[in-house]
Amino acid sequence: MSESTWQRRHVISLADFTVPDYELVLQTALSFTEVLSRRNKKVPTLQGKVVANLFFESSTRTRNSFELAAKRLSADTLNFAPGTSSLSKGETILDTARTFLAMGTDIMVIRHQAAGVPSQIALDMDRLGGRVAVLNAGDGKHEHPTQALLDLFTLCSHINPAAPSAKDIKGKKVAIAGDILHSRVARSNLYSLVTNGADVHLAAPPTLLPEEFAEYGVTVHHQLAPALEDADFVMTLRLQTERMSQHLIPSLREYYAQFGITRDRLARCAPQVQVLHPGPVNRGVEISSDLMDDPRLSLIEKQVTNGVAVRMSLLYLMGTLMGSAA
Ligand code: NCD
Repeated sequence: MSESTWQRRHVISLADFTVPDYELVLQTALSFTEVLSRRNKKVPTLQGKVVANLFFESSTRTRNSFELAAKRLSADTLNFAPGTSSLSKGETILDTARTFLAMGTDIMVIRHQAAGVPSQIALDMDRLGGRVAVLNAGDGKHEHPTQALLDLFTLCSHINPAAPSAKDIKGKKVAIAGDILHSRVARSNLYSLVTNGADVHLAAPPTLLPEEFAEYGVTVHHQLAPALEDADFVMTLRLQTERMSQHLIPSLREYYAQFGITRDRLARCAPQVQVLHPGPVNRGVEISSDLMDDPRLSLIEKQVTNGVAVRMSLLYLMGTLMGSAA
């Protein structure tokens, strides 16, 4: 792997990620899956470094995945939860971040319900002249880079288990169905999949998928069938009821009837089709419960497993390569 290509202090968005960036993240993740298959799953790479998980919004998978990834790299980890913090005493988010900086944090992993908070914190940290790196773990409807990177790793590892590469997704048809409008996972995946040459088709009712999404270089459908036709992969997204201010769908039952991914509907897809979902899943709304649990058709558990190696990859690249270059 050519380590010299990593030039990013912060990872906030995949909008400007290049093919070599994706490849570097994937190949580094691949070497960490080897580490994670050993009896001793820890490496000393980030010994002495501090990784702070600042999760202002709730999370199960992403927060624990980052914590485990940091621990496997031997970093010291700090965890922040707003309910039990000084935020409830009126402290601002930037002051919270500065507190973690003063404790010697090297990497801040940030999730917030508002788009733009990780980039605001990154700007503030840069202004203070520190060398702290900021990693976006999901900000509002904006982006969720590590989810898209672990999705890419999962897709390419499925296509080419012996030697996965970002090139493997080129020309594959990927259908993304669900609440695309409110999904940061979808936005990061659009950048990743389009840059790496996948044929991306989106499917959702017009209220959850404005026509403007075609500008990403994808095909927009307001019906499921044409998106599924010969698809190699189907990514389903959660209906994000907490982000819907108006009633954008008639009912959950109606949504499932028109856009729910079921075994029967997969008959339109390519014979070896696989289903993905970032979780958390609303069973029986965006995907049928039995399909989600079928290991022959679902990569959902693999996504969770791969998340640790992919997050190790990013923490390593950000914590080691930028640290030594700065
Ligand atoms: C997603 C998130 O929080 O952005 N989940 C995740 O991180 N795995 C998707 C969602 O909330 O639906």
